[in-house]
Amino acid sequence: AKYTWVEKDTCIACGACGATAPDIYDYDDEGLAEVIYNSDANRGVTEIPEDMFDDLQDACDGCPTDSIKIADAPFNKEG
Ligand code: F3S
Repeated sequence: AKYTWVEKDTCIACGACGATAPDIYDYDDEGLAEVIYNSDANRGVTEIPEDMFDDLQDACDGCPTDSIKIADAPFNKEG
């Protein structure tokens, strides 16, 4: 299983992740990215389905500030 979370403290609102993986990432009012998949609300607790792993990895690789985190276990973050 894969889980993802955006470190908003380091996100610079570049907009790459939402363009690459629009089903996983969207932006808040300040343009900072957050995980929206299945109403995750950037908690990082929603399991990302395997058919989205390519988008997930591409978004992670494309983030200029390494703000997209991926792990095999839930993050359980807030915001
Ligand atoms: Fe932010 Fe990285 Fe996405 S800087 S907008 S998390 S690609």
